[in-house]
Order: sequence, then structure tokens, then C-alpha cells
Amino acid sequence: MSNPVHDAIMSRRSVRKFLDKDVPEDALRRILQGAGMAPSGHNTQPWQVHVVRGAMKQRITEKALASASGEVTSLKTSDPEFEYYPTEWFEPYLGRRRATGFGLYEALGIGREDKQRRSDQMLRNFKFFDAPVGMFITFSRRMAVGTFMDVGMFIENILIGARGEGLHSCGQVAWCNFHGIIREELGIDDDQLMACGISLGFEDTDAPENTLRVEKAPVDEWTTFHD
Ligand SMILES: Cc1cc2nc3c(=O)[nH]c(=O)nc-3n(C[C@H](O)[C@H](O)[C@H](O)COP(=O)(O)O)c2cc1C
Repeated sequence: MSNPVHDAIMSRRSVRKFLDKDVPEDALRRILQGAGMAPSGHNTQPWQVHVVRGAMKQRITEKALASASGEVTSLKTSDPEFEYYPTEWFEPYLGRRRATGFGLYEALGIGREDKQRRSDQMLRNFKFFDAPVGMFITFSRRMAVGTFMDVGMFIENILIGARGEGLHSCGQVAWCNFHGIIREELGIDDDQLMACGISLGFEDTDAPENTLRVEKAPVDEWTTFHD
């Protein structure tokens, strides 16, 4: 049986190099329309999305790169919008986090001690990995912690919706480092918490960074059936 929803889900992965090829306007609109169909507690629909392209995308990239002076090898920020990760990592999450990082550097042939290239790769986040479309997802900080669930589903609809259009994506918490710059450029109110950025476009299938395939735990590792 063909199952296009399952196929879209199974073919989604984070792509970190995109082609210099525009995303058709109607495809982008369908993705956003699909995102807005996400469920949310009491149908609050608490999300906002800012789409950046062209000159505005370029300006934000330039400002972020100018601000990210020196070596940047981690996503830690001095001005966090929210705590995405625990202060003390523990297994199995620590191992998975390391495997993802090492896997990316390995795909790119970057040695563990090569801080310069690691930093350069990290900074590629702020070029949206060359994607033609960037997005910033925000929601009111007056909402409660449960809103993260709603916004997470909205984000996933964008990532899966992109697959339906033959596009790929990458979620980017890295952009939260520069929420101040983004806020200023796009006129986003202080009330809005920046959840993440997203890069969207056509995958560069020749790029070594796009050969990364992270390991996913099998269903039985995190499912308990109670009959
Ligand atoms: C909310 C969110 C934020 C993320 N932030 C970043 C980021 O800043 N930079 C990056 O390269 N990847 C980022 N990722 C991608 C994850 O590293 C990736 O989803 C994870 O390694 C699993 O790989 P997969 O997406 O290919 O399944 C983010 C993913 C999510 C869902």
C-alpha cells in the first residue's frame, strides 16, 4: 500500500546545504497553509512565522555573522530565550548528541581538533545553509509551557509539508542566539519568544554534509504496549 504521509515523514531529514534555486510561491503558500492546520490546545493557534527571502534574508545573515565574532563551535548563547537543553547532559541523550555532531564533521571530513573548520560549519547556520527561504517561528511568552507542544507541531507540519513539495528543511535553534537582531530587523515585539529558525529549499544532493543519516531508535525502544 502506498502511504504518501509515511513516505514524507520517512524522507524528512535535516539538510545543511541547499541549491541556489527559488522555492515556488504556491509551494511555499501550501506549506504554510498546511502548517496552520496543526492542532493546538483549545485551537489557540499560538504561532507566528516570519518568512525571510532576498535582501532581508541577506541583511539578517550579515548582521548575525558580524555579531558572531570569533570561534563559534557550540549553540550556547549568552542571551537565551529559553532552555532547550539540560545544563547537565546524561545518557542516552549525551551519546546521541555527540554522535550527531561527530557524524556531521565526519561527513565533511573535519577533524575533531579542527576548531576553525568546525566554527566555519557552525556559522553556516546563519547563511541558512544557502537556502532561498528562511523562517523564524515565534509565539507569545505570556502563553504557558504547553504552547511549545502546539508550536512544535506547527514546525513539524512545515518540515513535512516541505517534503510534499519536493523540498527539504533544517530546524535551527542556532538562530535564537540572534533573536535581538531578528527582532529589530523584522519589528518583532518583545512579547514574542523566538522558538527557532528554519531553512527551506531544494537539497544540494552533491553536498557531503547532506550524506549524514542520523540513527533513529527502533519503535520497541521507546514504546510500551499495555494490553
Ligand atoms: C527545533 C530544532 C532545532 C534545531 N536546530 C539546529 C541548528 O541550529 N543547527 C543545525 O544544524 N541543526 C539543527 N537541528 C537539526 C537537528 O540536529 C536534527 O533534527 C537531528 O540531528 C536529527 O536529524 P534529522 O533531522 O536528520 O532527523 C534542529 C532541529 C530541531 C527540531
